[in-house]
Formats: sequence, C-alpha cells, structure tokens
Amino acid sequence: MELFIRPAGPVDAEEIAEVQSLSWNAAYTGMLSPGSLANVARVWNAAHWRRSLERTDDRAVSLVLDGRATGVTGFGVAGPRRGRRTALADFGGEIYLLYLMPAIQRQGHGARLTAALARVLLARGISSAVVWALARNRPAIDFYKRMGGRPIAEARRPFFDETVDEIALGWEDLEVLIGAARGVAE
Ligand SMILES: CC(C)(COP(=O)(O)OP(=O)(O)OC[C@H]1O[C@@H](n2cnc3c(N)ncnc32)[C@H](O)[C@@H]1OP(=O)(O)O)[C@@H](O)C(=O)NCCC(=O)NCCS
Repeated sequence: MELFIRPAGPVDAEEIAEVQSLSWNAAYTGMLSPGSLANVARVWNAAHWRRSLERTDDRAVSLVLDGRATGVTGFGVAGPRRGRRTALADFGGEIYLLYLMPAIQRQGHGARLTAALARVLLARGISSAVVWALARNRPAIDFYKRMGGRPIAEARRPFFDETVDEIALGWEDLEVLIGAARGVAE
C-alpha cells in the first residue's frame, strides 16, 4: 500500500480524530479503562484537532501518513520536550503522539513516520528526543527500542479516572533513530 508522509493541516482534523480513536481502542483496550478510552474520544475529537492544527506557533510538528485510496491512516506529533524532569534535561525534543491504524501497522510505516519527525526536529536544531509510552504497551516499547531508543525514566501519572505507569525512552542523537528506521524500511 503506497502511503506518503506530509504535514497535517486543519482539513485533516476529522480523519486524525478517527485514526486516533481506532488506534487507541485497538492498542489500549485492556490496558486503559473503558472510561478513559471514552474520555480520549470525547476530548481529542475533530474540533480539538482543528484548533490544534490551526495554531501556527511552529512549536509542534504534525505529520500524517496519507494514501490515495485510504485517506489518512496514521499521524505523529513531535516538538520540544515537555516537563521539567532533570533526568531528561539532556533531551531537547519529544515525540508526543504516534498512532497508526491497525490495518497498516507492522509494514514499516511507523519507522518512516518516526524518522520524518526526527528529521523535522533536527532541521529545527533539536538533536535528541524522548517518547513516553505506557509501561504495559510492550509492542510500542519494542518498536522504539528497535528504532534505537533506550529506556531512561519511569513515571506514574493520573490519566482521567485512573493512574498509569509510563516509561520514557530516549535518543541522545536522532541520527541513530533515522539510521535504524532506514534498516526497517529497506
Ligand atoms: C507502535 C507503532 C507506531 C509502530 O509502527 P509500525 O508501522 O506498526 O511499526 P514498523 O512496521 O515500522 O516496525 C518497525 C520495527 O519495530 C518493531 N516492532 C514494531 N511493532 C512491533 C510489535 N508489535 N511487537 C514487536 N516489535 C515491533 C519490529 O522490529 C519492526 O520491524 P519488523 O516488522 O521488520 O520486525 C504502531 O504499531 C502503532 O500505531 N501502534 C498502536 C498505537 C501505539 O501504541 N502508539 C505508540 C504510543 S507511545
């Protein structure tokens, strides 16, 4: 399936909200409570995405995987690292969100999309990054490790009406991620 990567705009809001809802339900049913999943769909709806993508402050970059036949099938958002943890002080960037539809997973698209986010961060002068994943989300953790990410921190946070354990993986040099992604795609 041919999917190309392009910057997201407000016109993509509905499709991104749909991809997020489908991907979250597939990935997190059994890991997050039904109440949290319903809250995610309610809060991160198309209107939220439209507002977010209309912002032109250039801090976050949002990219989509798009196909002529399928429309938007995945998206990723990255930017400067959030939070003030001293353990993560050496990492300038963060991958905030990365979600693909189940039907296109495990075909190298996640690797390509992550590398594209890394290239944008590098172009903006950010050469290292972290990503937070649910500690129970083994597939995502294995994916980030395959991309050269290394576990660097743990956290327990409130998420709607529950508490979740998360781990942060980091890249001191985003060129490592780009090189690892090239190995998957080829
Ligand atoms: C995690 C995700 C972004 C990865 O993207 P993807 O396109 O499925 O992954 P790729 O095909 O690029 O995988 C590259 C390599 O990562 C590893 N990997 C990917 N998915 C994996 C899985 N489910 N289990 C173990 N290893 C995995 C493999 O080494 C894979 O290479 P291989 O298929 O040649 O063995 C995608 O599966 C997804 O959207 N998952 C659901 C949502 C999610 O968990 N997002 C992350 C939130 S932090």
